[in-house]
Amino acid sequence: MPLSFDVRRFESIDSTNTWVMAEARAGAAEGLVAVADHQTAGRGRLGRVWEAPPGANLLMTVLLRPSGAEPHLALAAVALAGRDAASSVGGVSCGLKWPNDLVVDDGRKLAGVLAETDGAGAVAVGIGMNVGWAPEGAACLGEGVERDVVLAALLSSLGGWLDAGWPAVARAYREACVTVGRRVRVELVDGEVFEGMAADVDDAGRLLVETSVCLRTVAVGDVTHVR
Ligand code: BTN
Repeated sequence: MPLSFDVRRFESIDSTNTWVMAEARAGAAEGLVAVADHQTAGRGRLGRVWEAPPGANLLMTVLLRPSGAEPHLALAAVALAGRDAASSVGGVSCGLKWPNDLVVDDGRKLAGVLAETDGAGAVAVGIGMNVGWAPEGAACLGEGVERDVVLAALLSSLGGWLDAGWPAVARAYREACVTVGRRVRVELVDGEVFEGMAADVDDAGRLLVETSVCLRTVAVGDVTHVR
């Protein structure tokens, strides 16, 4: 049965991810969505801050419970839905940069996705998409684009990906991942930096990088496309 979304709107909230995760721990059903005009403590990957002026961008989180599937696939489904919405509503084509960025053709970031798990099957997947405003060096859809229209398109596409099933999501993520086949510089959380060729993304969402000496499996880290 297609998932129905229960959308809750907030003028201001600390973080839609924090709210959805708290609801998940209290037993909320899959499909709960929080969308905010403004976040006072928006979070990005690796403890970074995610900021946008009030009312400018799409800030939303959806609760998924991908039973039996890797949490990475929940992130992948939302990233693909964000890509679809950017294209159908904003006319902006983008690819997925490992692990969680939507980037336009020249590499500028349009959106970031943050997936957090409760360790018991719930995944809160948040996406921040630059709609009317972008930080320096990033891309946005454009001022005339309505956030609500982007949200509706994203949820509609997400429903389609969830219906298509996790193997289809995994395939589509690989196809859309503009990191695969590129030379990359990887910075791990312990500070180690190395370069290699991004060969593939495995079923757990880890990036496989061929260096001059071996194949490295990267679960968490920052990647820069080089050359
Ligand atoms: C990243 O690129 O580092 C991920 C950014 C994710 C930001 C979104 S905005 C909505 C949701 N709530 C948060 O606090 N973070 C995510």
